[in-house]
Amino acid sequence: MSDNQQRESFGSKLGLIAAAAGSAVGLGNIWRFPYELGSYGGAAFLIVYLAFIFVLGIPVMVTEFSIGRHGQANASGSFIKIAPKSPQWSVVGFMGILSSFMIMTFYSTIAGWTLEYMFNSHGLVAGIMSGEVNSGDYFTNFVAHPWHPVAWQLAFMAITAFVILNGVSKGIEASSKILMPLLFVLIIVICVRSLMLDGASAGLEFLFKPDFSKIDASVGLAALGQAFFSLSLGMGALITYGSYINKQENLVNTAFQVSVADTVVAVLAGVMIFPAVFAFGVEPGSGPSLVYITLPNIFAEMALGWLWCLVFFLLLTVAALTSMISLLEANVVYIAEKFKMNRTVATIVGSLAVLVIGVPVTLSQGSGAWAEFQIFGLGLFDLMDFLSAKILMPLGGLLAVVFVGWGPGKNAFELEISNEGTLKSSAIQFVRAMVKYVAPALIAVIFVAGLM
Ligand code: TRP
Repeated sequence: MSDNQQRESFGSKLGLIAAAAGSAVGLGNIWRFPYELGSYGGAAFLIVYLAFIFVLGIPVMVTEFSIGRHGQANASGSFIKIAPKSPQWSVVGFMGILSSFMIMTFYSTIAGWTLEYMFNSHGLVAGIMSGEVNSGDYFTNFVAHPWHPVAWQLAFMAITAFVILNGVSKGIEASSKILMPLLFVLIIVICVRSLMLDGASAGLEFLFKPDFSKIDASVGLAALGQAFFSLSLGMGALITYGSYINKQENLVNTAFQVSVADTVVAVLAGVMIFPAVFAFGVEPGSGPSLVYITLPNIFAEMALGWLWCLVFFLLLTVAALTSMISLLEANVVYIAEKFKMNRTVATIVGSLAVLVIGVPVTLSQGSGAWAEFQIFGLGLFDLMDFLSAKILMPLGGLLAVVFVGWGPGKNAFELEISNEGTLKSSAIQFVRAMVKYVAPALIAVIFVAGLM
């Protein structure tokens, strides 16, 4: 795994977009985006979110790609390659590893819930149809169960570890090229069904009609955290991918395409969920349980609802898996290189480490021992989410743009965004200006204001 070997690179433009979109499109779009939007005031959140994707998300993505492509190494190592005289910058890469570790602790919990819904889709949907099951109670009882959610979490972790052990490219890259478009088609179908529900318009209004008085610093920080989470930014994941991008690719265009795909999926998830939320009288701010409580109600209204339910949660599992793989991969490569372990041992160590925190995170959602456990007034689940999405990601993104805008990464960045001076466009001008002036100032302000 020496950095001096000729590095692998993505075979094609499509492969590159599929891999980057596979990391980006995940639970963040379909599970996290709707509940964050619901908790932070609906359309007002959407507007701030879209603005941040454009002025901060795309520039930070270009920044990460350029660091990786120039450094030709892992997240931490690329900083050292670019700035050998200031090795302290590699801490940014380490922070990213830490933050992706924290994300995995609750990502595996949610993915486990998804597996439960996939395997029990028939009982669940049939129960709702016959009136014996209430989707809210079903969810509450399931997450409070002493070991069911943990068993599903272990299963998901095992699948992820298995893929990592076998290498990523063949299985996952090839399958995501088929499964991601399928996910997209299914979302559209469910959107259409959701829009046909009585009372759908209240949901659309909530999603698209902004109440600007709801915008404050906490909405800003939440939208920033969500934008970074959804685009997989601020923790070096895309630095690693950047190191696999061919020299001829236009980084600004690539970042734009990946971001648009990711944003479209998130907005469609909103169109799928909010009409149903309002039609079935669910609380839009009900948090992480939102998708699991509303969607089964729509499926129960559809012919062959259990089958839709099964296919939907299968695809959500796949979306979660492609993202989880990119998270675990970053940790495994780091552990292997840092502690000189082989890939197999590093995968086992990394997976077990995730579970040491991840199992208590899962149990904190129930009524068991971990439900009462709090640090800074937050339960374990919210704490992991808060530390990663609202602290480490903004900080990681901020340090990365300072590194290339003002720090020792300046030249590398200039060479990479313009493909050594051969590309010129107003989009590149825009990204350059955002990275240098707007992104550092804006991220810093939102970060500080949002915390206070
Ligand atoms: N972006 C993924 C999602 O939306 C989550 C994710 C995968 C991620 N890899 C990441 C987030 C790296 C931050 C960094 O679900």
